[in-house]
Amino acid sequence: MNRTALEETAQAMVSEGKGILAADESNATMTKRLEAVGIESTPESRRRFRGLMLTAEGAADHISGVIMYDETLRQASDDGTPFPELLASAGILPGIKVDTGAKPLAGFPRETVTEGLDGLSARLGRYHELGARFAKWRAVIGIGYDRPTRGCIGANAHALARYAALCQEAGIVPIVEPEVLMDGEHTIDRSEEVTAAVLRTVFGQLAEQRVLLEGIVLKPNMLLSGYDCPEQARVEEVAERTLACYLRVVPAAVPGIAFLSGGQSDERAAAHLNAMNRIAGMPWELTFSYGRALVAAPLKAWAANTAEVADAQAAFLHRARCNAAARIGEYAESMEHELVA
Ligand code: 13P
Repeated sequence: MNRTALEETAQAMVSEGKGILAADESNATMTKRLEAVGIESTPESRRRFRGLMLTAEGAADHISGVIMYDETLRQASDDGTPFPELLASAGILPGIKVDTGAKPLAGFPRETVTEGLDGLSARLGRYHELGARFAKWRAVIGIGYDRPTRGCIGANAHALARYAALCQEAGIVPIVEPEVLMDGEHTIDRSEEVTAAVLRTVFGQLAEQRVLLEGIVLKPNMLLSGYDCPEQARVEEVAERTLACYLRVVPAAVPGIAFLSGGQSDERAAAHLNAMNRIAGMPWELTFSYGRALVAAPLKAWAANTAEVADAQAAFLHRARCNAAARIGEYAESMEHELVA
């Protein structure tokens, strides 16, 4: 294992003033998103939409890496440049989603385990040849009155650790994503209890599988009140409680925490990240690895006229700029009115 290369890549992924674009929706998910705005989902429409973000002039000022789906990693821009090559030449790290999705966990009703370990070593080798320098694997943990179970947390943590070890052996930095869903009526206290338990188990498994913590990026949820909870935590409370919890359970050797947006509004996702970055003295970089909070706005703009990319690119760059500002604690709501098309 080349420790230095892994550490350098991980640090570049969380470098100052930048964050990660998660454009790795599976074809099924991307089809839902495209059809919701009236666009037929084909390999070509998916290529054109992802392509407009990847070729947006100036994206590299705010984006350190892009997570792609297998299909996109093998596609090319209009001028025929393969997307991984295009990104690398702009100074953006190409990444790849390698899990094959969350599947029902046998014996545990309503719980899932993320699959994709079979043949992963060979796939990682091919992805590295295609230019991928980091990968993503998302475990999904739901909260309910009888969930999550220890069985579900344990199975998902074990798979995450096995994936991370295989990535590092292939010279690829693993994004370790244990997502605790914020759907439900639970309080922020319950969100904290579950998230802490999940992260303790994940880091225990990472240690057992001999994963180099300096060569990973953690991609967790923020601690929020469940979306249907009548009492919603304020922005500052979310920031303070998230960091207080993570100080207890995330080792300082981890170079960076790149949060997922998880269905928050675009503005909330930026405001929460901003509030966290205004709290000094954290051992890790705090940045974003957003999907919906970066992609929803350009998709809406593109849907209005798919023959044109300028408005969609402006909408994408605007979200990237807002979140990059939040990543250094310089986001203000007033920025939301500064979209320059
Ligand atoms: P969201 O930011 O939309 O939660 O997506 C991030 C992601 O990559 C989930 O795996």
